[in-house]
Amino acid sequence: MAIKLSNRSKLIKPSPTLSLSAKAGQMKEAGIDVISFSLGEPDFNTPEYIKASAQKALSANFTRYTANAGILELRKAICAKLLRDNGLEYTPKDILVSPGAKASILNVLTAVCDTDDQVLIPSPYWVSYPYQVLLADSVPVYIETREADSYKLQAADLEEAILESPCAKVLILNSPSNPTGTVYTREELSAIAEVCVKHDILVISDEIYERLIYDDVKHVSIASVSEEMKERTVVINGVSKAYAMTGWRLGYAAGPTHIIQAAGRVQEHTTSCVNSITQKACVSALNDEDDSIENMRKEFWQRRDYLYDRLQKIPHLSCFKPQGAFYIMPNIQWYIENNNAGIKSSDQFCEMLLDKHHVAVVAGSAFGLKGTVRFSYANSLEKINEGVNRFEAFLKEISR
Ligand SMILES: Cc1ncc(COP(=O)(O)O)c(C=O)c1O
Repeated sequence: MAIKLSNRSKLIKPSPTLSLSAKAGQMKEAGIDVISFSLGEPDFNTPEYIKASAQKALSANFTRYTANAGILELRKAICAKLLRDNGLEYTPKDILVSPGAKASILNVLTAVCDTDDQVLIPSPYWVSYPYQVLLADSVPVYIETREADSYKLQAADLEEAILESPCAKVLILNSPSNPTGTVYTREELSAIAEVCVKHDILVISDEIYERLIYDDVKHVSIASVSEEMKERTVVINGVSKAYAMTGWRLGYAAGPTHIIQAAGRVQEHTTSCVNSITQKACVSALNDEDDSIENMRKEFWQRRDYLYDRLQKIPHLSCFKPQGAFYIMPNIQWYIENNNAGIKSSDQFCEMLLDKHHVAVVAGSAFGLKGTVRFSYANSLEKINEGVNRFEAFLKEISR
């Protein structure tokens, strides 16, 4: 008889973004010309100056276990970055380096949440948050946001959710956001902070897309709006997105010492330290930045402009203009209600689009927002152009 799985593991479903790109990958392997807008991964190579420092570390045999929380040199570089870019003062004992921001979030949730504690998640949300909350044996509570509010959590809605959730302990905030690309202003964050301080809510502030921001918008960390809020915030960041280092696996958490130390103990008994070579490469990524990082941002900006322009010209499609990250989420509800192909949901829409026109986009339902699809524009302008041509052709074909 097969061994029974844990109840916890049964709650965890495969990541829809990863399964879709796996299907697109299989089609590509079978020789099909698939255009994929599904994965949240820069299509650029890791910059040369970062690779050079990794090569140097390898030649110097820097290949052993390091301190669990990360080498001191790196934690100092992270403190310097947080002061330089965010006006936040931390010391190395307030920093935990983990194998990706994903691991950072789970370590922190595990360190602060007891069974049945409630974790507030503005919706739409990044696909992994609910599962991470469930893995920490706590309970996700979704707070709907509206397109009219640029998909930003409103302080009044937050307060209402807290009052209705007797075990509310944590809020996960993500700016710039995956999937919508919305970016909160200092005023909006101050209003949210006021509610969090009043009700003693810890904010896990996921700022992984901080550097990918367009127009004249500025990134603000909620930890920087007041000293009381800083005491209740764990900032999450990493190198995957802005430095094109997804495969290197490094993220970090910065926050109140007792939380970071507890999260560190979780890590000590799970993954231990991050790969030693990656850590050296990240010291260089943060300390010796050259213009390759800014050049990638400019390229994403150009793609955002192009893709937004194309999408918003399509009839019956409404499209929120993202200001950060590399995603865009057009509303396809009209086509779900007015098609001749039997499509009744964004999931079916995406499946048919992939099967018939070989374009992979992710259904909004994966992020808690039905009637939409998410494009990742971490793709060349040429591919974006061809992909949108096919997307448009599909819409024409199915519309009644
Ligand atoms: C909002 C958000 N947070 C965190 C992560 C995880 O990043 P990492 O590669 O550092 O684990 C992602 C990756 O897709 C993301 O979109």
